[in-house]
Amino acid sequence: MKIKVANHSGFCFGVKRAINIAKNALRDSKYRENIYSLGQIIHNPQVVRLLSEKGLYVVSDIDAIKKGALIISSHGAPQKIIEKIKRKKIKLIDATCPFVKYAHDIIKRLKRDGYKIFVVGDKNHPEVKALLSTVGKKNLYIRGAKAKKIALVSQTTQNRDNYIKEISDILKADFNEARIFNTICNDTARRQSLTREFLKECDVMVVVGGKNSANTKRLHHICRENRVDSYHIETDAELKSGFFLKKKCVGVVSGASTPEKTVKKVAERIKRLT
Ligand code: F3S
Repeated sequence: MKIKVANHSGFCFGVKRAINIAKNALRDSKYRENIYSLGQIIHNPQVVRLLSEKGLYVVSDIDAIKKGALIISSHGAPQKIIEKIKRKKIKLIDATCPFVKYAHDIIKRLKRDGYKIFVVGDKNHPEVKALLSTVGKKNLYIRGAKAKKIALVSQTTQNRDNYIKEISDILKADFNEARIFNTICNDTARRQSLTREFLKECDVMVVVGGKNSANTKRLHHICRENRVDSYHIETDAELKSGFFLKKKCVGVVSGASTPEKTVKKVAERIKRLT
């Protein structure tokens, strides 16, 4: 059986950066034993566990922290929370991905220019919650509402096809002017296009990454949309020989918070199983 492994895998730029920021904070004697991340620093349970063994504690309630340093995850955080942290006697370390920051900057500009803004993304994801907080109630565009000037931005890890579909739906509304921003990051776009490429040849796909990782779930969704058998796994331990029965080609792709060595282990285990 043919095994195709994506040549673009391992951590994306934003995840690498966030992990380095966390490691540097863990090495800093000033914060010893008091380093926290607001939510998981990246959406990969294995990496989060490794960092917690080194002393990075995941918290959801900033009131519980009295001293030390708090790291904002790669997904960013709502402005209100950031201001609250600044008022406390704790050090704020911002590991928000610059691509996420760029989406916030666009929203701030659009607000200043009087646009109603529509955000395409998973409303329960921390990145989208933060983007919506930057938009604010007054500037939020509600589907079907009347507005003179509307603008669309998306979650950085959105499925490109889904964003295009949402854009065409929103453009049916009544407005004078619309602006569309491609805030899907390059890394996400590249992983999605590699997945689509593999789907042309492969009859089974293995998608590697955190079960809570939005960009990994989207890769899996793309496979399912194309009606190709696909499995979303976090580690090689979840692989079963039955996945590959009577299959000719398997494609292995991974999310942006999946370590390179996890992908390698998956590819090696597939080789042994087939
Ligand atoms: Fe940033 Fe894109 Fe990674 S938004 S965290 S580079 S998936």
